[in-house]
Amino acid sequence: MSPNKPAVFVARRIFADIVERLREHAEVEETDSDEPLPPEALVRRLQGKAGLFATGTERIDAALLDACPQLRAVCLMTVGYNNVDLAACTARGVRVSNAPDVLTETTADFGFALMMAAARRISESERYLREGQWKQWHVDLLVGADLHGSTLGVLGMGRIGQAIARRGALGFGMSVLYHNRSRLAPEVEQPLGACWVSKEDLLRRSDHLVIVLPYSPEAHHLIGAAELALMKPSATLTNVARGGIVDDAALAEALQAGRLAAAGLDVFEGEPAVHPGLLACRNVVLTPHIASASIPTRRAMCDLAVDNLIAALTGGTMKTALN
Ligand code: DGY
Repeated sequence: MSPNKPAVFVARRIFADIVERLREHAEVEETDSDEPLPPEALVRRLQGKAGLFATGTERIDAALLDACPQLRAVCLMTVGYNNVDLAACTARGVRVSNAPDVLTETTADFGFALMMAAARRISESERYLREGQWKQWHVDLLVGADLHGSTLGVLGMGRIGQAIARRGALGFGMSVLYHNRSRLAPEVEQPLGACWVSKEDLLRRSDHLVIVLPYSPEAHHLIGAAELALMKPSATLTNVARGGIVDDAALAEALQAGRLAAAGLDVFEGEPAVHPGLLACRNVVLTPHIASASIPTRRAMCDLAVDNLIAALTGGTMKTALN
């Protein structure tokens, strides 16, 4: 081990050239695994390491930090950081960063694609065709809902929410309603024609609701049976935020009962497991947490985490520090 370079652990298989760049500044140990390491294995690999490159799935809590006293920096390649106990890190002087901004537009593209796929029944149509059910063109064959001219509801109007609202307002002529803890500045609202409304109004008035808020204990099951009951039966719901914000069992029931027209889901409670009720629904588009998964964006996410790790371990300033 080099006496001059700090030791770091890269907890997932990432792009080889980005690891090479990290090696110029650190002694790198990496895993070739595409799965999160069990907590005990992660603690073992972190012994003697000052830095950790992680994703949104490794649990970084007080127990791990106490078992890895040499750890100084945890740099996530994801924007979501609900897997990290930030207070425990701060209390132990461990610096933490996430990777916002670089994935905003890619995630918004995907959120929009999911919303369109749900509204226009694209997955369902493809299954219908592949299963050989297509015998005739007919007037109401797989008819869906329009996006253009409809009302887009954005729950969580941060960077990604605003990027989705921009696509809806400027590209598709949608009216934009949003609910957020705080109202946006008029100069952000006006170009989008976006109106702040209460959560209940958002649920009642949206034709297409998109959930884009970060997960926190307060956001757990923010959308459950009571909230779904407020929505129009013709509405769609899309979630590209985090599993657990929506009560998946309640959503499956609403979809099956026709109390909601369709859903597009990239995230799930307890993923990679998916609620069997959702798997049984024909009117839901399901994808495996890939909203940010374009090649340039995944590279940018890794690059930003590596920049932060190098900065943290060489006395520099992390670009996107969380503490
Ligand atoms: C993120 O960056 O938080 C995405 O959801 C990938 O985990």
